[in-house]
Amino acid sequence: MAIISVINGPNLNMLGTREPGIYGAQTLADIEINLTQLAKELGHELVFYQSNAEHDLINKVQQSQQDNVSVILLNPAAFTHTSIALRDALLASGTPFIELHLSNVHAREPFRQHSYFSDIANGVICGFGPKSYELALHAAIPLLEQSSRD
Ligand code: DQA
Repeated sequence: MAIISVINGPNLNMLGTREPGIYGAQTLADIEINLTQLAKELGHELVFYQSNAEHDLINKVQQSQQDNVSVILLNPAAFTHTSIALRDALLASGTPFIELHLSNVHAREPFRQHSYFSDIANGVICGFGPKSYELALHAAIPLLEQSSRD
């Protein structure tokens, strides 16, 4: 059994009412319930976290080693396109991670088409709505075998 951390950035607490045409009708709580169940079926523990504050997200990533986290599923939200500090935290932690997005950021505004995370992520999943979280969880399983923390 490994610990998988799901870290969500700003405004994702607004899912359900936030631009449903882009992000879908599911709330973040719905996504958490589904994903926790899926992780359980796959024999792993899921820790789900959301913050609107960059420093809280950085602290969470920094803690991942102490928390014995094997892999991070990260939706950095708008920090995807702005945060060198969060990028540096991931590099410092050395924890494998998958970048994920609900929307297809490559089909949106030009400023969403650059990510500070994609080149250092183990993989990137975007464009499948809430399903992006499930796909990321499935994609994380082979990474657990490589991780020393499970
Ligand atoms: C997002 C895409 C980002 O560009 C945006 O700022 C978000 C959500 C997504 O999941 O599609 O807040 O990360």
